[in-house]
Amino acid sequence: MPGKKDASSSACRWGKRSIRVWEKGDGPDYRSIFFDIQLDTQREGRSCGMCGIVGYIGTRKVVPILIEGLRRLEYRGYDSAGLVYEHGGRLVKYRAAGKLSNLEAEVDENIGVASHTGIGHTRWATHGAPTRDNAHPHSDCTGELVVVHNGIIENYGRLKKELEAKGHRFASQTDTEVLAHLIEEYLDDDLVTAVREALARVEGSYALGVLWAGDPDTLVAARNHSPLVMGVGEDACFIASDVPALLPYTRQVIFLDDRELAVLSRGSYTVMDVDDGAVLDKEVRTIDWNAAMAEKGGFKHFMLKEIYEQPQAILNTVSGRIVPDTGAVELPEIGLDDDAIRSIRRIALVACGTSWHAALVAKYWIEKWAGIPVEVDIASEFRYRRLLLGPDVLTISISQSGETADTLAGIRLAAELGSRVVTICNVVGSTMTREADGVIYTHAGPEIGVASTKAFTSQLAALFLLTLYLGQVRGTMDPATGKALATGLVGVATVIEEELPRMQEQIRVLIEDYYDARDFLFVGRGLNFPIALEGALKLKEISYIHAEGYAAGELKHGPIALIDRDMPVLALVPRDSVYQKTVSNVEEIKARQGRLVLIGTAGDEHLARLTDDVLYLPPVHEELNPLLYTIPAQLLSYEIANRRGCDVDQPRNLAKSVTVE
Ligand code: AGP
Repeated sequence: MPGKKDASSSACRWGKRSIRVWEKGDGPDYRSIFFDIQLDTQREGRSCGMCGIVGYIGTRKVVPILIEGLRRLEYRGYDSAGLVYEHGGRLVKYRAAGKLSNLEAEVDENIGVASHTGIGHTRWATHGAPTRDNAHPHSDCTGELVVVHNGIIENYGRLKKELEAKGHRFASQTDTEVLAHLIEEYLDDDLVTAVREALARVEGSYALGVLWAGDPDTLVAARNHSPLVMGVGEDACFIASDVPALLPYTRQVIFLDDRELAVLSRGSYTVMDVDDGAVLDKEVRTIDWNAAMAEKGGFKHFMLKEIYEQPQAILNTVSGRIVPDTGAVELPEIGLDDDAIRSIRRIALVACGTSWHAALVAKYWIEKWAGIPVEVDIASEFRYRRLLLGPDVLTISISQSGETADTLAGIRLAAELGSRVVTICNVVGSTMTREADGVIYTHAGPEIGVASTKAFTSQLAALFLLTLYLGQVRGTMDPATGKALATGLVGVATVIEEELPRMQEQIRVLIEDYYDARDFLFVGRGLNFPIALEGALKLKEISYIHAEGYAAGELKHGPIALIDRDMPVLALVPRDSVYQKTVSNVEEIKARQGRLVLIGTAGDEHLARLTDDVLYLPPVHEELNPLLYTIPAQLLSYEIANRRGCDVDQPRNLAKSVTVE
């Protein structure tokens, strides 16, 4: 049960962020991962998340305000939407699958209804397919209490069983609906107390809006690890997942912090601590963004916003999948029992583009820690070669969208040949997830930028968890090693969070010597060879510079003929087990007047003797370097493309999801 943060946590602070690292036993019984990472994702209004929430209580007609607010949050999630308003002592609810326009069509004749209180939601599904029944708002048994929610209720299964045993009847597959029935369970005549008592039972993340027909002049909101901001206007109060939804009405905002609850009425509000009910004095801040900037959380491009969302995306992907006491990984959604996992003789990884690069990294991990031979295929090749697949081969597709035509064709072929199929995917209910035998979702939230960033590092996190899980079930990984690696995975998210601003500042200066290059080479060795490929793909797809990724050891087999002053080379040179070999490759480039950008381990003075352009990163477990070393490669491509005036979020000739062959 998450409890009060006690003094035993060792908090390391930097800037306005703090991390509380809890050793098991002296902090809250945090059900999912070792660390209760308090990453304040609302710095300067920067926030990340999956769904969009809006709420209003005031004197104006509420439906147009809800619709406009949802439209401004649609980038956060768009597979279904809904709203509810209070009218004549009743709650009137509309929900629709698909785009927000479908909801607008449903509400149409009541757009002008004389109602002044309501909440709305646009969904990015994490539990339950994106259908109308799973769309928010969700109701209790009476239909007189409704909830909208962004986040993941990790103990929803246990709570749902408990509530069903008490006679509650559920209408959806979502974790959110549990909240509505749980509040109902505690509700007599005080909505605020009922919400607080319900939240005391909840484990996981939430941004919440609650309405009750029994108290139509009150809107309750609460936040824990999912963004929620309040707006304060003339005789009105608002809630929203992000600032853009508020800007047409007010620039006076209050950012709720974790485990805070707000009680809103027509022009007054109270904020209190969820746990002890103590009233809090919160700062009202003035937003000075324009609406376009605000949609990107203050970032210039979605891609940059999504680069900064990676720590949270990694933690969201890990959350609920590592058992604190033992460090064991739990992946029940994989759809394979232990015997099936022990019977795997080979793994076939199939993907495209950036997702294929994630597969290449996973090959090193799985072969090393699970002892299973892995073959990796580009999907468009996989589907046309003679496949030697069967029941003893596990086929795993990796896809952000879950709709890539070649990858989809590949898993269909694999299934026809008798191979079991698991997909690692970021979109709940996408075609691949409905056709695979098992699904490991990444929880990166909607990725709007065409160039994939947070989905990639979330795929790496999911593949690393899968590696640990396979090793643990097959007995090729001792529990202590598994626990250390799992801890390292959570820890690398915090390193990325801390290093991002500094990396960006340094790269923004560094690219002045490189943004006009016509060609670029990226080299890496071992686990960093796929990251070299990924860096080259990022650069070419958003800056249109010709870039190639190579295995460092491959240079002398031809590519080194390209090296001269006009061919800059970015080399990934962490102090890992292949460091000496990689440094030799770098020195071969230097000897031929190559221009070097080196990404290496802090303290490695040797690199600074080879070039002025060195970006140092903190040491992390060697196995986790791919997650960390991807970040400077992403930032380099972003800053160069931005400097060249390219359309970073929608590069020419590309689409976010390649649903054609
Ligand atoms: C990556 O930046 C590209 N947008 C592209 O290579 C992408 O990774 C590829 O099309 C695969 O998409 P998927 O992950 O949705 O299957």
